[in-house]
Amino acid sequence: MDMQRVPAREGNYNLKNYDELRSTFKWEDVHKHFSWNETGKVNIAYEAIDRHAENPEKKDKVALLYSAPGREESLTFSDISKKSNQFANVLKKYDVQKGDRVFLFMPRSPEFYVSFFGILKTGAIAGPLFEAFMEQAVRDRLQDSEARVLITTPDLLERVPQEDLPDLEKIILVGNRSEPSDKYIDFYEEMEVASESFDIEWVDLEDGMLIHYTSGSTGKPKGVYHVHNAMIQHYVTGQWVLDLKDDDVYWCTADPGWVTGTSYGVFAPWLNGVTNVIRGGRFTPEDWYSTLDKHNVTVWYTAPTALRMLVSAGEGLVKKYDFSSLRHVLSVGEPLNPEVVTWGLKAFDLRIHDTWWMTETGAQLIVNLPSEEIRPGSMGKPIPGIEASIVDNEGNEIPPNQMGNLAIKAGWPSMMRAIWNNPSKYDSYFINGWYVSGDSAYRDEDGYFWFQGRLDDVINTSGERVGPFEVESKLIEHPAVAEAGVIGKPDPQRGEIIKAFITLNPGYQESDELLEDIRQFVKTGLSAHAAPREIEVRDSIPKTRSGKIMRRLLKSWELGLPTGDTSTLES
Ligand code: PRX
Repeated sequence: MDMQRVPAREGNYNLKNYDELRSTFKWEDVHKHFSWNETGKVNIAYEAIDRHAENPEKKDKVALLYSAPGREESLTFSDISKKSNQFANVLKKYDVQKGDRVFLFMPRSPEFYVSFFGILKTGAIAGPLFEAFMEQAVRDRLQDSEARVLITTPDLLERVPQEDLPDLEKIILVGNRSEPSDKYIDFYEEMEVASESFDIEWVDLEDGMLIHYTSGSTGKPKGVYHVHNAMIQHYVTGQWVLDLKDDDVYWCTADPGWVTGTSYGVFAPWLNGVTNVIRGGRFTPEDWYSTLDKHNVTVWYTAPTALRMLVSAGEGLVKKYDFSSLRHVLSVGEPLNPEVVTWGLKAFDLRIHDTWWMTETGAQLIVNLPSEEIRPGSMGKPIPGIEASIVDNEGNEIPPNQMGNLAIKAGWPSMMRAIWNNPSKYDSYFINGWYVSGDSAYRDEDGYFWFQGRLDDVINTSGERVGPFEVESKLIEHPAVAEAGVIGKPDPQRGEIIKAFITLNPGYQESDELLEDIRQFVKTGLSAHAAPREIEVRDSIPKTRSGKIMRRLLKSWELGLPTGDTSTLES
């Protein structure tokens, strides 16, 4: 498909000559923007918040513009600095040490962001969990990370299986809970008496900062470990890709339980000292449009599924709002359809800039820059400092226009530094000096990258990454389910939906009620976004002789494709 190319528009962009910079840029060039370059004192929380709070011209600027149904609040850089100091003091009172894992399991709220920076100020490693996780998902992550402290709300507490979490010493509750316990700490009570000054823990650039759990095709979710050094890339992509300027009002729609919601919902805007809109509550087209309008958002970072839902909501709705402040729109997480780019030109009179990266990469790598031509359907080109290529399975580069593994030369600042507790998994990402992404893609003659699909069985539903193994494991815990195989089925709106193939245990009959019960079982046990939208009962699930579920075969059946070589199939 050769869609019309969309030329760059005239504008006062932070980065104009991309190609020139690509040949001269070194990551070390960015160091001079940080005070640690001179003082040797490192902490990402200092650079994102306290630095601005110490600046008389910045301290009273609104940093966080929070709105959710029933709650509107704004916090300045000075407010966040003081409150996160208070929270760091609370953590210290309960003996939190550098390197400890402190997890957050709560909805987007000012308390989340205050706690998050409080954790970083103590030198502990923050672990944000998506608020929709249910018991199994919470258990897996808190067990693997051996988290010592959890910050959550009384409502979410029932999803925390405390009896299975021997390392979890304290739970800080944001909200009231009457039942007294040695384990529970009241957030508001403690904050009231905590000092607003705190001696921040200076760390090393390579010290741990954050763990995000993410899914692969096998095994439990993996703890992707990031270090303070990532700030170099968060800062500079905020400049180049988000094109942030001092007077911008920026909105990233992602939840901080996912990497976009921290790298670009927390760090990039605040390292650049920009006002950051945080919207709580659920997605509706009206709500999102009115958020853009009400706060006069200038730079907006969102995702294809949401954009497709806005497209479906129709043009009539667009006309009811004023988007005249909006100047720059970006997308991440799934392929951005050319049709959506075309719609963006009509609806907002703006280009939508696709960006490609992953939890493991920590920050944007391949992007459409505002000063470059967009080729709708392409993820764009690597940012300066990043060498991307297409390699074969041995890590040899392959020529343009041929599909292969999308790979990045290892060693960029925000790259993960470990998979928590799993060194062999970490090593398996790297071949011949390349970080191999698991995505297939090709590169055209002009250096634009074109996404083709995942090479493993990982599912991408509404931009959220789901591991089939986790869903299968949950499904077979249901008394009716004997075996399960889970795939991503293409869906025009959500990219993929989760489809499960199951066999039933003796004594169970297929019925709508049973299938709904199984669906609910996954939804309430694991998480809503991981629950299969479709369940098909079969007599058997295809497996290899070694007992591995052949998801590829299930997918071919589903799509009516040729099934290829099935000689390893269990007879
Ligand atoms: O398959 C790619 C897809 O999302 C995967 C990474 O998912 P996650 O770690 O959850 O991070 C999402 C946001 C950073 C990738 O391996 N993906 C991400 N961005 C794009 C994409 N697929 C196509 N186009 C993109 N722009």
